[in-house]
Amino acid sequence: MDVFECVRGRMTIREFEPDPVPEPTVRKLLQAGRWAPSSRNRQPWRFVVVRDKDTLRRLAGIAPSGRFIADAPMAIAIVMEDADSPDLDAGRALQQMELVAWSEGLGTCFVGLPTEEQKRRVKDLLGIPEPMDLITVLPFGYRARTPRGKRRRPLSEIAHDGRFGVPYES
Ligand SMILES: Cc1cc2nc3c(=O)[nH]c(=O)nc-3n(C[C@H](O)[C@H](O)[C@H](O)COP(=O)(O)O)c2cc1C
Repeated sequence: MDVFECVRGRMTIREFEPDPVPEPTVRKLLQAGRWAPSSRNRQPWRFVVVRDKDTLRRLAGIAPSGRFIADAPMAIAIVMEDADSPDLDAGRALQQMELVAWSEGLGTCFVGLPTEEQKRRVKDLLGIPEPMDLITVLPFGYRARTPRGKRRRPLSEIAHDGRFGVPYES
């Protein structure tokens, strides 16, 4: 799949087929994260692959905005260790995973864990050392349903030409 086509087509997926994600594909997702750029090339990401159904259900129970994790055949927790810019580095790695997942027929959804309590419970469940920074849990699975339409602001609203305030209108 062409890179732009993948970027343009990718959507957040919250409904998954029950089929397992083949191990070579899981590995490919991890490789996609691994090859991401990071500040000072410190590669501070750690990825925890979760396939156990009961653990997926428990994760869903901890994350109020990610109940659908329970229906995914697999999830990857994104954890940062001693990162200069944890959110930026993690964002680049997980976006690469998301795009590769899309190109493989899979889908995922960034699941936010907004409270310290939620993060602590996920870390306890997955055995993630306390000082590490848990960014998200990404459920992965084959797309059961792709939502219709993807809305974005027009370019003229967000892009400026030469000087802020001059809309880019090419
Ligand atoms: C930082 C971040 C946090 C998000 N948190 C959640 C979440 O907790 N639960 C959820 O269902 N979707 C979550 N999303 C998904 C967004 O709602 C989704 O990306 C957005 O609506 C745009 O849709 P699209 O990804 O299909 O283009 C999150 C996305 C981002 C980037």
